[in-house]
Amino acid sequence: MIFAAMLAGGIGTRMGLNKPKQFICIGNKPILIHSTETFLKVNEIDKIIISSPKEYINTTKELINKYFPNNPRIVVIQGGKTRNDTILNSINYIKETYNNNHILITHDASRIFVSTGLIKKSIKNVINHDAASPVIPAIDVIFESKEKGKLTDIPQRKNLFHSQTPQSFKIDKFMEIYETLNENEIKQLDEAMMLFFLRNGNVKLFEGESTNFKITRNIDLKIAETYLNKNSL
Ligand code: CTP
Repeated sequence: MIFAAMLAGGIGTRMGLNKPKQFICIGNKPILIHSTETFLKVNEIDKIIISSPKEYINTTKELINKYFPNNPRIVVIQGGKTRNDTILNSINYIKETYNNNHILITHDASRIFVSTGLIKKSIKNVINHDAASPVIPAIDVIFESKEKGKLTDIPQRKNLFHSQTPQSFKIDKFMEIYETLNENEIKQLDEAMMLFFLRNGNVKLFEGESTNFKITRNIDLKIAETYLNKNSL
C-alpha cells in the first residue's frame, strides 16, 4: 500500500502568528487544505495521514471534515515534538493498523504548490530505491560557518541542492535502520533522508520544482498569494 504523511504537526514559530501556519488561508482555503487536495487527486495513494499539534487536533479534524466530509482516505493523528517524531507517529499508525511492506510519502503541508506530477515522480523513484527525494540546484553560493561569524568552508555550488518534499521511502527499510541508530544520530533526524544517509541507504535524488517552495516566513504568504492569483487568471 502507499501512504502519505501530510506533515502538519508544527506550530510555525518563524511565522510569528497567533496560530500554526497550516490554518492560514491562501486564496480562499487554508494551507493544509491546498496540499491535501492535491494528494487526494493521486489515485495511487491509499491513505493520507494528516498530523496536527496536540492542542489543534479538534480544529484539524473539523477543518478536514468541512472540506472532505467522511473521506475514508483521510485520517488525522497527533504530531510529535519534532518533525521526525511526527513521521514516526505516522509510521506507528500504519504499523498498528496495516501489515508491513508499505511505501510512505512524506510531505510538508506548507508546500501548497506541490503538483500531482511531482508526487507521482516520488512514488516512481522509490520503487527501485530505499528512498527518493526531489531536489533543486542551489542558486546562491553557500558559505559554511561552523563558528559564529567565521567562514569555514565554501562547498562547490554545483554539488549543492535544496531538498524538497514529497520524499518517499520504504517503511520497513526506515525502521530497520532506525533500530540501529544511537541517541546522537536520532537527534540529527529532522530531515528523513538523513536516516538513510547515516547508514549508506540507497537514496534517489530527482528533479524538484521551484514553485514547490515551503511557506516559512511572512513574506512567503505574500509570494504564495500572488502566485495563486496569477495561476488562477
Ligand atoms: N512539522 C510537523 N511536526 C513537527 C514540526 C514540523 O509535522 N513537530 C511539519 C510542519 O507542520 C510543516 C513541515 O513539517 O508542514 C515543515 O516544517 P517547518 O516549515 O519547519 O514548520 P514549523 O515547524 O511549523 O515552522 P517553524 O520551524 O517556523 O516553527
